Amino acid sequence: MKKKNNFYVTTPIYYPNDIPHIGSAYTTIAADILARWNKIQKKEVFFLTGTDEHGKKIELAAQDAKKKPKTFVDNLIPKFKEAWKKLNINYNRFIRTTDADHEQVVQVILSEVHKKGDIYEGYYEGLYCTGCEAYYTEKELLEGCCPVHKTPIEKLKEESYFFRLSKYKENLLNYYDKNPDFISPSNRRFEIINRVNEGLQDLSISRTSFSWGIPLPFDKNHICYVWFDALANYLTGIGYLEHSKEFQKFWPADVHIIGKDILWFHAVIWPAILFSLNLEPPKKIFAHGWWTVEGQKMSKSLKNIINIDKLISIAGVDSARYFLFREVSFGEDGDFSEKILIERHNNELANKLGNLISRVSTLAETYGMEKSTPIKIKPTLKKVNQLFQNLELDKVLNEIFSFIDSCNIYAQEKKPWETKNKKVIYSLCNAIKDIAILLSPFMPETSEKISKVFNFEISIESLNNDLKINKIKKSPILFKKINTIAENVNSKKKEKVNKSPIIDGIMSSIEFKDWEKLDIRVGKIEKVEEIDGADKLYKLSISVGAEKRTICAGLKKYYKKSELEGKKCIVFVNLAPRIMKGVESQGMLLAAVSQDEKKVIIISPEKDIEEGAKIR
Ligand code: ME8
Ligand code: MG
Repeated sequence: MKKKNNFYVTTPIYYPNDIPHIGSAYTTIAADILARWNKIQKKEVFFLTGTDEHGKKIELAAQDAKKKPKTFVDNLIPKFKEAWKKLNINYNRFIRTTDADHEQVVQVILSEVHKKGDIYEGYYEGLYCTGCEAYYTEKELLEGCCPVHKTPIEKLKEESYFFRLSKYKENLLNYYDKNPDFISPSNRRFEIINRVNEGLQDLSISRTSFSWGIPLPFDKNHICYVWFDALANYLTGIGYLEHSKEFQKFWPADVHIIGKDILWFHAVIWPAILFSLNLEPPKKIFAHGWWTVEGQKMSKSLKNIINIDKLISIAGVDSARYFLFREVSFGEDGDFSEKILIERHNNELANKLGNLISRVSTLAETYGMEKSTPIKIKPTLKKVNQLFQNLELDKVLNEIFSFIDSCNIYAQEKKPWETKNKKVIYSLCNAIKDIAILLSPFMPETSEKISKVFNFEISIESLNNDLKINKIKKSPILFKKINTIAENVNSKKKEKVNKSPIIDGIMSSIEFKDWEKLDIRVGKIEKVEEIDGADKLYKLSISVGAEKRTICAGLKKYYKKSELEGKKCIVFVNLAPRIMKGVESQGMLLAAVSQDEKKVIIISPEKDIEEGAKIR
């Protein structure tokens, strides 16, 4: 019997007809996140991924490349392994359907299902799309074409063996009924139940018109249908063949994570095969949504496929992993945009998380820490755990980031840089420990770096216990801000179109309510000082009416001190403070920057107006 403290998660096995891209990366990172979280929970985890190497689609791709199918796939597999390595994916096994143990499993399963009387010989006459490796009915076609690929459909006429899928209709409906979470998210469940209710046709599971596949053990003239072969990987991967301890431990799988495109195979065909084998179905099939790229379907012909190197090159691995799960609700469709990835990297990772880490580690290095109880700020662990269990991964991130916000607000209110209160500093360090541990499934590298700075382990014990008092050194910068202006200039040059920055701005507009949050005032620069070791920054003392602000601004290259003193300017007064070169900067000045960044000019009110006047 499978025990509660084991966790088995899988991805689809991908067709190695091309290199991996954000689509396959998305599913694989999702599985990695769950595997990592369950490991933190002290569960024994098995995480399986791999490649689906047989079938007509691969045979054709190999022909195009003028290679034998096996040679063709052998060349692509390292690309998958490298991609997953670059993305920090920690799988237990990479299964290939051409692996010897798998080929054996498929034959064993075919024999068992055959013996049971669930396979019979017949004649298949119907419609097939090789792109999908799937059979279609007339009704499902779109103007005579495959509804997915929009390509002409093939009329197949061949001898074939059939699997008695129709026999399992009631078992399936019963299973869905008794296990309401089996098909997740729940909106996908009804589609499937409706279709099964309409009736099931037996499934053609063998082909004779080509040879790149596993021969049927009871008829060597036939090869096994690629989906029957592929689904069995979930059994092979954990040692079905030898009915090993691993297999006993891990079957049934806790969750097969897939894209919505292949839900029918996983939620209908797969459990039916398992019923026939007297094996339990997996506990959950989670079908996530589909990524488009800048509003368009990803496709070779549009040349818009985002591969792993491209994905990582934008803002690094962790920012990419973060973006994919922050940007869309897990289960829904999403649109990939480089610009939004960069914005999230800058605004959420660099500004919110990065600043918190840098401020607090600087404070801890400067003033030290002192144990304080009770700690007033704590994330809601129970809630996070529940969200992980429901695979609401985007909501986990929301939870963590609203906690990061409350830490920034807490710091803002307590002003430990003024009070030098070691207890407040400790509370913040302790909160950072929790943040890093909760974030570690999503952003393993970043969390590792934070854990080294604040000296704790990424483990359930450190999550449940308070941080030990220790000496901390200022953290290196975790997220370098990416200059979107420069990027825009470059990409405009590349595209050779003159996009209007204003229209561009409208397209990515912020909400009015967000704009209203900004407090912008007229200020007067009263004093300008140099900062030790800073060649770009001035330390400005600015009067904003009743209040004085210290602001560090990169103006040294552009202004003499005397040119600034007495000058009126525009100040953002409610930004979270930042420590720059050891000086706490409490706001920002408005300045105009030329595209080549050679000119920087302070914005000043056109006519005289009192300091503190509001800008609207
Ligand atoms: O279907 N958005 O392999 P496959 C989101 N070999 N996810 C995407 C995506 C996109 N644009 N593109 C691909 C097969 N995916 C079979 C599976 S399993 C026993 C056999 C992801 O290479 C998503 O997980 O076509 C989808 O289900 C999978 O890649 C399809 O990969
Ligand atoms: Mg596909």
